[in-house]
Amino acid sequence: MASLNHVLCLGVCISAWLISTADMNTVPTAENIRWVSLDFKTILMWTVKEPDHKFTVLYSVDDGDWQESHDCIQVSELECDLTHDLQPFDRLYSADIQTDTTDEDYTADEPPHAVSPHFNPYKESNISAVKFTVRSVDKTRVIVNITDPLTSIHVGQRQLSIRDIFAHDLQYKVIYRKSESTGKKEITSNSSVAEVPNLDEGQRYCFMVAAFIPSRPQNTKWGAWSEESCTHGDPGIGTDLSLGAWVGAIFVFLTVLIIIITVTVLCCRRRRERNTGFQTYQSSTPI
Ligand SMILES: *[C@@H]1O[C@H](CO)[C@@H](O)[C@H](O)[C@H]1NC(C)=O
Ligand SMILES: *[C@@H]1O[C@H](CO)[C@@H](O)[C@H](O)[C@H]1NC(C)=O
Repeated sequence: MASLNHVLCLGVCISAWLISTADMNTVPTAENIRWVSLDFKTILMWTVKEPDHKFTVLYSVDDGDWQESHDCIQVSELECDLTHDLQPFDRLYSADIQTDTTDEDYTADEPPHAVSPHFNPYKESNISAVKFTVRSVDKTRVIVNITDPLTSIHVGQRQLSIRDIFAHDLQYKVIYRKSESTGKKEITSNSSVAEVPNLDEGQRYCFMVAAFIPSRPQNTKWGAWSEESCTHGDPGIGTDLSLGAWVGAIFVFLTVLIIIITVTVLCCRRRRERNTGFQTYQSSTPI
């Protein structure tokens, strides 16, 4: 019994020693690796348990060979901007984050490393909220003029917009409502200039716009929604007045008319009476 205890104790001691030496030899690998991408600016981010390590990032296209990302060799930051490496856009990329080691703390053939999830910029890069203007064409139609957001991609001197990249895959959703109402209508536009027809004359309308890419997977189809922008409305006579307002206006008009007529009639009658009185008085004086 005593010897069994000894053996158990020895076993525990040996495993504790093994674990502690293993710990000393372990170089931390990147954790929580994620892609953050907005308008095609794409950054790989990660965390690490112990600070003060350097990292080198490699990437592959469609699970092909690994290539170094030139801006991310032995960096001490916990992120790497891969915007310029992830082209063409509609491909499946992955990244491999290697923790740089010195010979003393690591001796294995393969450096400690961690592989990112796959990422396709064309399908997954978030699209920011758009800016737009609303201009009325006539009493029942407006033009919503959308400015395509710019991406972080340059070709020569030119900065590409999302329209340059998505071309016909890019649509816009315009939702609109009367400014006092919550009932919303929606139209889809293939172009960056959208016409909204069949509006009620003279009403004030409010609009919101978002990029919409139907070819993408469900959870990345929509860009961010813009702020709401409203028309001034045009409460000209005959458009904005309800039936009740009309009845009220006619009532007031008639009342004023009746008062004027009454006052005029009363005045005339009193003056005629006074004139009559004067004549009577005159005619009665001589004698
Ligand atoms: C896109 O935005 C959503 C919502 O903010 C976020 O959860 C997601 O991680 C973002 N995706 C990328 C690739 O940045
Ligand atoms: C849309 O706006 C841009 C600039 O803001 C302007 O150059 C263009 O002419 C406008 N298009 C229409 C159809 O109003």
